[in-house]
Amino acid sequence: MRFGALTLESNLFLSPLAGYTNLPFRLVLREIGGVGLCTTDLVNARSLLEQRAKAFKLIETRPADSPLAVQLFGSVPEEMRDAALVAEAHGAASVDINMGCPVRKVCNVGGGSAMMTELNKTAALVRGMVKAVKIPVTAKMRLGWDADNLTAPDLARALEDAGVAAVFVHGRTREQGFGGTVNLAGIRSVVAAVKSIPVIGNGDIVTPQAARTMLDETGCAGVSIGRGAFYNPWIFRHTLACLQSEGSGQVPPEPSFAERVRVMSRHLDLMIEVFGEELGCRMFRKIAPWHAKRFGPSSEFNKRVVLLSSQAQFQEILHHYLQWRTQFLDASGELSPRYCPPPMVASFMQAPKTAAEPGCNADEPAVVPRHIPVPRGPVEVW
Ligand SMILES: Cc1cc2nc3c(=O)[nH]c(=O)nc-3n(C[C@H](O)[C@H](O)[C@H](O)COP(=O)(O)O)c2cc1C
Repeated sequence: MRFGALTLESNLFLSPLAGYTNLPFRLVLREIGGVGLCTTDLVNARSLLEQRAKAFKLIETRPADSPLAVQLFGSVPEEMRDAALVAEAHGAASVDINMGCPVRKVCNVGGGSAMMTELNKTAALVRGMVKAVKIPVTAKMRLGWDADNLTAPDLARALEDAGVAAVFVHGRTREQGFGGTVNLAGIRSVVAAVKSIPVIGNGDIVTPQAARTMLDETGCAGVSIGRGAFYNPWIFRHTLACLQSEGSGQVPPEPSFAERVRVMSRHLDLMIEVFGEELGCRMFRKIAPWHAKRFGPSSEFNKRVVLLSSQAQFQEILHHYLQWRTQFLDASGELSPRYCPPPMVASFMQAPKTAAEPGCNADEPAVVPRHIPVPRGPVEVW
């Protein structure tokens, strides 16, 4: 798909998840395939200008991690402009602006005029960035503050006039947090509001079918996936295959358990390569349980991996877990269907009637599908 001057290999995007969408995770996803553009965690523009090591670690990249969008956060126009120049000089293919929600509760009092003041200010900031860099500038927003203030269509239109190359819209209001249902009609109204830039829909995409539904029902040009990629790093590859299957909805088979373990181990290797053994292992304590969510019973693994401090210890934990897990296998060495994890279902999709995961026996008693959990992080910010 076209994205400003960029041509992307797919219309599938990795959403920023602060604390998680770092270089190792992005490399893991890219090795599996299917993702068109990955985004860094949110980076404070001022920290980048102050040359803080932590900010530069967030934008660390390498040729295999391309194309990459750097997401910036800040409200001072000059700082945002200069930070965009730093990101560009650092090899970013695009710069994304974290907009959260433009409308503060206090704006309700001032009504529309206060909102427009905010929009004008935001548009001016964006204009300064667009003028300064050659790479595309994009913006990520929610639908608005609450159901009575769905400002995203107006904001998207103002930003398009200011020169953004695309907008990303999480189909919830700020008031919703991560609860309730992703509002596909709300995303559709943003698509209708802009003239020609792509709108990328976001929120709760946990299966290829959910991606297809969001594309079909909103008319958005692409979808961005956050937690779903963390839960299932194969989601981009499978979604791309599903979208390319010309209506048949064919999805490649689920990866084997051995492949899941290989990818998890690769993720740890990259964490150690990028962050060093001590910090990489410490950070992996909260990542490994997400990989394990699809292993079947994993309490014994999770209990130990939260104390991880070295690569050697990881091998021991894995060895112990593989032995412990044998009690849940059937005669052919596969996980018994009753231990298969229940499928995830997007808030805007109907729960499947037979609820076993692909690869498990659909004749087994139905399992209740789950909504995707929210990983730990300062989520009130987005
Ligand atoms: C732990 C966590 C961290 C997040 N960090 C960011 C961030 O840095 N920047 C941002 O724009 N959105 C951030 N988000 C929001 C996601 O990018 C995304 O919009 C949201 O999770 C909905 O998409 P999903 O259902 O595919 O996860 C974060 C969400 C979570 C749960």
